[in-house]
Amino acid sequence: LIGSVSALALSLLASSAYAQCDDGEMVIKFSHVVAASGHPKGDAATMLADRINDEMNGTACMEVYPNSTLYDDDKVMEALLLGDVQLAAPSLSKFEAYTKKYRLFDLPFLFSSLDAVNSFINSEDGKGMLTIMEDEGYTGMGYWMSGLKQFSANKPLEVPSDASGLKFRVQTSDVAVAMIEAMDASAQKLAFSEVYSALQTGVVDGQENSWCNIYTQKFFEVQDGITNTNHQLLSYLLVTSTEWLEGLDEEVRNQFVSIVEDVTKQANDDVAQKEETCRQNIVDANGEIRELTEEQRSQWLETMKPVWEQFEDDIGADLIKAAEGSNS
Ligand code: LMR
Repeated sequence: LIGSVSALALSLLASSAYAQCDDGEMVIKFSHVVAASGHPKGDAATMLADRINDEMNGTACMEVYPNSTLYDDDKVMEALLLGDVQLAAPSLSKFEAYTKKYRLFDLPFLFSSLDAVNSFINSEDGKGMLTIMEDEGYTGMGYWMSGLKQFSANKPLEVPSDASGLKFRVQTSDVAVAMIEAMDASAQKLAFSEVYSALQTGVVDGQENSWCNIYTQKFFEVQDGITNTNHQLLSYLLVTSTEWLEGLDEEVRNQFVSIVEDVTKQANDDVAQKEETCRQNIVDANGEIRELTEEQRSQWLETMKPVWEQFEDDIGADLIKAAEGSNS
């Protein structure tokens, strides 16, 4: 029995990429809310930990806490400032308390593809937005893309009027609330860890998320089907405490930043493939996926696009234009 318990403990340690830190090593804790693997963020966090634990062995050690096991996305922001964790990667929809500029990324149908997102985040405007929360004590180290979002509900959704009267779970984003209300539906903000049971028990009727979240959290099992709307971006900000980052010895900081940059690039290069695998996994598990005709897609766009105007002052018309320009 003791043997099997310790085998289980070892496999748990391995699967959540917990490192065994040595005395004297600086511990870098990374807390996130998604699956430990088979997900763009879970896999990127593991890749980062592997690189740090290998290349900075003796100096630094990274521990990854996936699946909301340590903090949810609200609490993790406080934990960063308290020094209880050093890295997090909440979605850009979750920074409303700190900046309204990231509302840009939530505008429905802003980006037509992940390539367009990639080109915007690597532009001067995109890079400049990494540091806009420094007065609040946070530095963005990079954008980790996830995917475009899809809607699901407990009934078929083909045109926006099918959603009329339904209640959808949204992230803590006022843009998402406005978008759902434009569909004549109601929105409820809920933590990610609560979504599955809210769908299962009927607290909400539907949700919107990336293929990999819908697959790894099994949302598709408690929904009628998923509609391939690609209506909005899900992307993360890899964020740290400005004070912690600036307090590192220069050499250590440079090595750390350079590993983060490499991993960020590789993770973003891998996203489209990972999302496609998650979509296919849903099909293979007999999940229902609905494709839209051109005519249906333009109805979704017409319904949601007016939301942009409500947030233009918070974001800035120039920034919206620059982001739109990355589609061409
Ligand atoms: C959500 O709350 O739906 C997402 O932000 C979760 C995540 O980190 O992908």
